[in-house]
Order: sequence, then C-alpha cells, then structure tokens
Amino acid sequence: MKVAVFVSGNGSNLQIIIDSIENGGLEDVTIQTVIADCVCYGLERAQKHNILSYQFSRKDKMMFQQIDDLLSSEVDFIVLAGFLSIIPEDFCQKWHKKIINLHPSLLPKYGGMGMYGDRVHQAVLDNQEKESGATIHFVTGAVDKGAIIVQKSCQIDENETLESLKKKVQKIEHMIIIEAIKKLKERSKVKK
Ligand code: GRF
Repeated sequence: MKVAVFVSGNGSNLQIIIDSIENGGLEDVTIQTVIADCVCYGLERAQKHNILSYQFSRKDKMMFQQIDDLLSSEVDFIVLAGFLSIIPEDFCQKWHKKIINLHPSLLPKYGGMGMYGDRVHQAVLDNQEKESGATIHFVTGAVDKGAIIVQKSCQIDENETLESLKKKVQKIEHMIIIEAIKKLKERSKVKK
C-alpha cells in the first residue's frame, strides 16, 4: 500500500510511521511522498530517510491542484499527520475515503474550524473534562466530521497542565496512527 503523508510541523507522527515501516511493525506499506504546506521539521525527517518530499506554500491557491497532479496515480491513501491547511471540497470528493486525519481530541468533541494544536487541549481543560484523547477519521468537506476509524482516550488528572495533556495525547496519536494505517491496509486487501 502506498501512502502520502502531509505535514505542517514537527512531524513526530510521520516519524512513527517511518520507524514502524523500517522496523517491520508496518508491513507492505511505503511512504511514497511527504507533502508540506510550509517549511517545517517534518520535511527534514523525510529527507533524512530519503523519502521524496515536496514543500508548498499554503498561500498558493493552486496548491491542491498541484498536489493532486503529483499524487493521482501514485498513492492509495493520504495521511494527514498534523497538516494544518483545510482540504478543499473537490479534493475531498476526488479522494473520498482515501484521506485520513489525526485530531487531538475525542471527536466529535473539540473539533471543527479553528480547533487545532494547543487550542484543543486548552478548551478541554477549561471545560474541566474528565478525559480526552485522539481520533483518526476519514476526511470529508465538513471539517473533522468524517467517519471515525480509531479513537482512544486518556484520563485527565486533577493537576493536569496543557503540556502534560499534550504529551499524553501525543502518545495516543502515535499508537492510533499505526493502528489506522493497518486498518486501511486490511480494507484495501478486502476490496481487491
Ligand atoms: C498532533 O497533535 C495532531 O493531532 C495535530 O498536530 C500535531 C502534529 O504533531 N493535528 P506532529 O507534527 O506529528 O509532531
């Protein structure tokens, strides 16, 4: 199964995918391309592992057209791993059920436009939630609303801080991103 991984930041989730492929934890999966919408450390991680990577500018109106041209016949699935640009409707339709996204909350809670990064964790803490977690879901035109593939929760402790919650959730992300890719692989096997 060939995947493209889209990043905008540190790329720790990309690294987990790379490591799992390299150590045999994720069999029959290849990262064909890494796409970034800005200069970011995720790109460097790809380069270090000799993975073909492209850097776009999120201000470029043609970005998704160009990405589509690059990926069309090359990849089976797109994994959004901390990719912050909103995916346009036509791109979502063309890649229907082929794009998955990682979100740092228990969707449908704390999702939607403007809910990303620290804002999510802060909102969870402000609302004195007892638990949080992470979700992998299919991407549709409605931000963070596509069908859920994997979700895992964690407890919020009494003296939880933004940083400690972020760490906990990231640990979960690193587990469920691999779980979700394995599920996609099973799914695509059944379809063939
Ligand atoms: C993750 O917390 C993810 O949920 C969010 O962006 C972060 C990406 O982390 N969408 P990294 O770039 O994979 O380290």
